[in-house]
Amino acid sequence: MPASSISTATPDAVRRNARPYLHGPETAAMAAAVEAGQYGHGPQADLFEQELAHYLGVPDVVAVSSATVGIHLALQACGVGPGTEVIVPSQTFAATIQPIVALGAAPRFIDHAPGTLCVEPQAVREAITPATRAVLPVLYGGRPVDLSAIATELRSRNIHIVEDAAQAFGSRRTDQPARTTVYSFGPIKQLTALVGGAVVPRSGQEAETLRQMRFLGITSSQTDRIRTTTYSVRGPGLRGVLPDINAAVGRVQLARFNEVAALRTALWKAYAQALHGASGVALVDAGEDAVPFNCVVRVSGRDRVHRIMRDRGIGVGVHYPPNHLQPAFAQWTRPLPVTEQAAREILSLPFHPAMTPDDARWTAGALLDALAGRSAQ
Ligand SMILES: Cc1ncc(COP(=O)(O)O)c(C=O)c1O
Repeated sequence: MPASSISTATPDAVRRNARPYLHGPETAAMAAAVEAGQYGHGPQADLFEQELAHYLGVPDVVAVSSATVGIHLALQACGVGPGTEVIVPSQTFAATIQPIVALGAAPRFIDHAPGTLCVEPQAVREAITPATRAVLPVLYGGRPVDLSAIATELRSRNIHIVEDAAQAFGSRRTDQPARTTVYSFGPIKQLTALVGGAVVPRSGQEAETLRQMRFLGITSSQTDRIRTTTYSVRGPGLRGVLPDINAAVGRVQLARFNEVAALRTALWKAYAQALHGASGVALVDAGEDAVPFNCVVRVSGRDRVHRIMRDRGIGVGVHYPPNHLQPAFAQWTRPLPVTEQAAREILSLPFHPAMTPDDARWTAGALLDALAGRSAQ
């Protein structure tokens, strides 16, 4: 049964669309890292990398200061630069696109599938040109994107896959196709290091390149550098290390990640059940393999529904206004009818682990009221 008309006051937890979720010991871990006096990449960041690799079941992980920096470095490491193109969905946060532009390359925007807001292999295939150097799929809401159907073709053309998995920590990973994956540990992500990110490299060699690039292209580690009289700058780089203070927070979060995954999954199911069969609402399904990052619905008259819900103090949002229509990316714009239709309909409902399934059911009821033109009683 869909949730129906509601009369209670807006619960506190649903007043925000998303919020950071800490377990408690993060504060002590951060204080210990401050007292240890190592504020760049140090022992906490080394341990965090090892623990992440163990959790993900991969040989290595490279911690970085944010997913934006991780995407930049991963694209640069596979040769993205002036004269090259990167195939990317328009439906994503601007942080996916800015690194492409910063590298002097061109984003080649493509449509996503209407039901998932993620790209599909055929749309990627159709966008390939002789200049294509990389494909940058976005795991919207946490949903894994499977490009194995075109993996052989991409490999034969020397086109790399770099996944923007900023919203997908904890989602199921497969080995194939070979790709570089970038996670975010920003404030509201499934796992937060307050700010931060990590890259899962394709190979030991790529890991080495990324480690050099995240520290200004310098080969030696911070510890080695203070012992010697010189160092070698071998190539491009940014200041992109993950500070130990952030890594210490990330380690606490990782140790309790399964709790957060269960909370997010239960919340998503509560929304899905409450909205099941409701007319005028389509849930963007994150799929069984995701630890959901958000809860996005498609509704007609979205701007009106958004206004009614905001007036009730409910933390709805829109993620995201499409990039191919942004002034900064105007020179790469092209018609994307599926994206443009979705952009008029998508609405993100409040979604974070401090909410309870009852909060989700309450919010679903408020959404149905707004759609039906009913106001709060
Ligand atoms: C899809 C997507 N890509 C990239 C990013 C950037 O992540 P970070 O804040 O770690 O740079 C975000 C962050 O919200 C995101 O949602």
